[in-house]
Amino acid sequence: MADADPQEITVPASSRYGGQVLELFIPQAKIQGKVAEMAAVLSEQYRERCPILIGVLNGSFMFMADLVRQLDIDFEIDFIKIASYGSETSSTGTVRLLKDISADITGRDVVIVEDIVDTGLTVKFLRNRMEEAAPASVIFVTLLLKYEVANLDFTIDYVGFNIPNRFVVGYGLDVDQKLRGLRSLYAFREN
Ligand code: IMP
Repeated sequence: MADADPQEITVPASSRYGGQVLELFIPQAKIQGKVAEMAAVLSEQYRERCPILIGVLNGSFMFMADLVRQLDIDFEIDFIKIASYGSETSSTGTVRLLKDISADITGRDVVIVEDIVDTGLTVKFLRNRMEEAAPASVIFVTLLLKYEVANLDFTIDYVGFNIPNRFVVGYGLDVDQKLRGLRSLYAFREN
């Protein structure tokens, strides 16, 4: 693994948050350990089956890539893209489908792979979208869940980390479309 993560990152000037400081929140080793754990649980649950994992773009691409590399079962993947309206660092409002899945999921075991559940609007939307297609089963997996904010009337099956209500960046998650490539998760400093 590469050098230790810096304790702080400054948001690049090309973002409207340019110059603001982010602090290390969850280091890459801890993320990788959690991803391996989650993959082991999924491999056990879906042994002898062939689930279709649906990644929620854009934020989940890195989690998805790491997760599937740790699975030791047969699986397929697809992606769906959802837009949520709101300000850059809070996702209030409504959601809209930008790119639908291509696969036919009727009768399939579906695993939705989310990077982060904030208000829960996106996963609620996804659950309705999936139900329309009559899959055999649907579960939700998220790396992060903001437990103080999430308002859900169903359970997220597997949560990597329950986190407080802070805006986090890195490991696929962006601020203003920037910093998705960070291998660790960073958070804006609390004021
Ligand atoms: P929800 O619909 O409110 O649950 O929001 C989900 C989406 O908002 C995620 O898929 C992210 O794209 C975005 N989001 C929410 N919180 C954060 C954050 O802390 N960092 C980066 N993106 C976030």
